[in-house]
Amino acid sequence: MDTLVIQGGIPLEGKVRVHGSKNAALPILAAAVLAEGEYLIDRVPELLDIVVMRTILQTLGVRTKQEGGKVYLDTGTLTSNEIPEHLMSQMRSSIFLMGPLLARTGEVMVSRPGGCDIGTRRIDLHMEGLARLGIQFEEREGNIYGRTKKLQGAKIVLDYPSVGATENIMMAATLAKGITRIINAAREPEIQDLQSFLNAMGARIAGAGSHMIEIEGVDRLHAVSHEVIPDRIVAGTLIAAAAITGGRVTLEEVQPDHMESVIEAFKRTGVEITGTESSLQVVGHHPILSLDKITTSPHPGFPTDMQPQMMAYLSLAQGTSIITETVFDGRFRHVDELMRMGAKIYTDYHTAIIRGVRRLSGTRVRATDLRAGAALVLAGLAAEGCTVVENVHHIDRGYDHIERMIQSLGGEIVRRK
Ligand code: EPZ
Repeated sequence: MDTLVIQGGIPLEGKVRVHGSKNAALPILAAAVLAEGEYLIDRVPELLDIVVMRTILQTLGVRTKQEGGKVYLDTGTLTSNEIPEHLMSQMRSSIFLMGPLLARTGEVMVSRPGGCDIGTRRIDLHMEGLARLGIQFEEREGNIYGRTKKLQGAKIVLDYPSVGATENIMMAATLAKGITRIINAAREPEIQDLQSFLNAMGARIAGAGSHMIEIEGVDRLHAVSHEVIPDRIVAGTLIAAAAITGGRVTLEEVQPDHMESVIEAFKRTGVEITGTESSLQVVGHHPILSLDKITTSPHPGFPTDMQPQMMAYLSLAQGTSIITETVFDGRFRHVDELMRMGAKIYTDYHTAIIRGVRRLSGTRVRATDLRAGAALVLAGLAAEGCTVVENVHHIDRGYDHIERMIQSLGGEIVRRK
């Protein structure tokens, strides 16, 4: 198991290019199943989650390889529509292969995804939405079997704007007969990127980014090439790294309009952030100003995927901050590890009260999930002394060699095998 060894106290300086979005790439790779042909998906980060998705696609019969940021797919011959349990359990978001497989083959078998490191991960909205399109489901021995003769467009009202459910329904509806309307759809930028990709394939979708998405079903789709949007959470994590170290960093090839709530929150703590439509200049200042209250919510609200990173940063603020996590019910596992570094954090259920301290102390800590691990790296960059972060494979799920990004900005961090 790899570890990251971090020497704290060095202000980060320089420029860094932000890699493509994991959460845009994953549904796009799944959507390629909808049509036979050869695809080139560009700016795909080299991450464990991408490897898992490509492995699942290979078990379905898709030929695929990745060279740098380019992923090549040949979906000409599907030999299976069953996603094996051992792969489902590695990445629960592979559940959004259900929609494409059902639309392409009329059948699917997936194992019911278990919980994960950040809480319960229900799929009722996925199944209810797909059932509205005419899919019959049954469950046996922990597996979910879905089948349909013909997908039929429908009006679907989500009682929560689930990202994955929106994506699953969108993909299945592209080949349904008639019109599908998704009301209370998720509005994340990754949904907009998926719409762009599907429309390039010949789908007729409008409204991604708003609360209502309309899909007019078509008879067939075709393979395309596509470049994935930048990763707004990696960009937000690098803003936090510049801020927590009091550094001066330029982020290149980002889309600031995807991250308005993150930029605003850091500005409220005293960080200077300016930019163009594709770059951001970040200057961290001390003392860090506390935030009376910050609440995570679906886009365009403050993203839950930035909550652990913001908490690590606010643990060094002057004053007390309150973070409320409304999206996941188990996303405070970084708190204990931050407290081992000297942070003062009190939690109950969905709320964390962070009483800022003057300094954090480096020690050995353990990543428990992807963004919690990123939060510990941030804390290590600001802590006095040396911090060793264990279980780095969690971080590798969503950051393409996080240590290289930080080294390129002058940070002292090395990966130990
Ligand atoms: C996506 O997960 C992201 N993953 C997550 O990023 C992100 O945190 C999340 O959206 C919220 O923005 C990918 O895109 C691959 P949801 P997803 O369905 O689709 C409940 C990261 O760190 N819910 O919007 O699983 C669910 O329990 C990862 O990159 C239901 O109740 O998120 C949760 O509480 C972590 N029923 C809430 O909605 C359902 O059928 C948000 O889930 C589906 C979800």
